[in-house]
Amino acid sequence: MKTFYIETFGCQMNVHDSEKVVGTLLARGYRQVATPEEADLVLYNTCSIRDKAEQKVFSRLQQFKRAGNGKIFGVLGCVAQQEGERIFERAPHVSLVCGSASYNKLPDLLVQIELGDRRVTGLDLDTDETFETPLTRRDNPFRAYITIIEGCDKNCAYCVVPFTRGRERSRPSSSILEEVRQLAEAGYTEIQLLGQNVNSYRDPSPAGWNFATLLARVAEVPGIRRVRFTTSHPVDFGRDIVEVINANPVLCNHVHLPVQSGSTRVLERMQRLYTRQDYLRRIEWLKQSPRDIAISTDIIVGFPGETEEDFAQTLSLLEEVEYDSVFSFKFSPRPNTAALALDGQIPEEEKGRRLMILQERQRAIQLRRNAALVGRVEEVLVESYNPATGQWVGRTSQNRVLNFTHPDGPAAALAGRYLDVRVTRAGPNSLAGEAVL
Ligand code: 5AD
Ligand code: SF4
Repeated sequence: MKTFYIETFGCQMNVHDSEKVVGTLLARGYRQVATPEEADLVLYNTCSIRDKAEQKVFSRLQQFKRAGNGKIFGVLGCVAQQEGERIFERAPHVSLVCGSASYNKLPDLLVQIELGDRRVTGLDLDTDETFETPLTRRDNPFRAYITIIEGCDKNCAYCVVPFTRGRERSRPSSSILEEVRQLAEAGYTEIQLLGQNVNSYRDPSPAGWNFATLLARVAEVPGIRRVRFTTSHPVDFGRDIVEVINANPVLCNHVHLPVQSGSTRVLERMQRLYTRQDYLRRIEWLKQSPRDIAISTDIIVGFPGETEEDFAQTLSLLEEVEYDSVFSFKFSPRPNTAALALDGQIPEEEKGRRLMILQERQRAIQLRRNAALVGRVEEVLVESYNPATGQWVGRTSQNRVLNFTHPDGPAAALAGRYLDVRVTRAGPNSLAGEAVL
């Protein structure tokens, strides 16, 4: 029997794609192993959002440059799509290069490899199909990722995704609901809807649902207790989405709404299609909700032409919104993107300085917001037990990590259960508490 090893980099879309690839391979009789050394087939599912992520795969491949001894190496995902056949030049021991838009061809490509083809590629970006497979092998027994839309039709000046994942393709609502029902029957209680821009979901079937309608329908499926979604583009984030959240407690108290910059001037250069004011209007909708909706975001510092004044506007936005969490990055120039040609590139050191300032500010905000939760009782979905700390790890509806003790310790067997926990302490990135008995 053939064995395979897969390592995944990047976003949840990639994590979920790997779950589908694993299912496909298992169905073909491959067995998954835990290290590349043991494997006949070594796969890297890659990310190219920033240069650092891209470098990782090449350093992995480098390790095996000579010691390949009969192993087959494959590069999947965003670096595969972006670099294509150039990968064979940079790493001649690679045999398979396949981007996410071509994963439905993977079984055929594997057959070709099994028959002895030295180099096979799946690089077609113009496929209408989404890679849906009933064979998905999910990593988590309670929370399931479901792809609802692939690709991205926006043109953000910094972003490789339109080049690595292709045009937007929405999945029919009937197929999504059918999978949610099956997952509920299989014991999953949390669903996370995935797409590069879920807000622009448009049901291709005659029903023609938009994202808000799909959300409402998914949340109604019996057995599903939590629904999350990621990621959103502010332009397509309509008030109807907030109204659906307001009306249905199954939809979690959390919205991830990437802003990228607090300066309208920079947003324009980024081709983000909204101003600071437009963005803040959406934040207002969320804050006016009777639900206590946590808000998180993504920010890029040091975009070409970002002045001190622009950066100060990003810092002031942090204070104005009071985000519950922020993912922040130094701008990284990417192939094919419009930002490559912009003047005013910022030196690495200066980007690093701005990033540190921003993260320091945000840390204080998070500490303050988390501290305000001390004394409150929160319902968590319990994920696992951490023997190192003697605590169970749970997640609140707001997506906060809440580590808590239970008198029965590990014997309580809480994984997958919903439980009330009293918050007793707060840090910048997590809460601590004790189970309410
Ligand atoms: N450089 C730095 N960060 C980037 N992101 C996307 N492209 C780049 C880039 N070229 C960030 C954005 C996006 C998140 C997933 O990654 O903030 O929302
Ligand atoms: Fe990375 Fe973007 Fe590809 Fe996800 S879609 S793996 S974040 S480049």
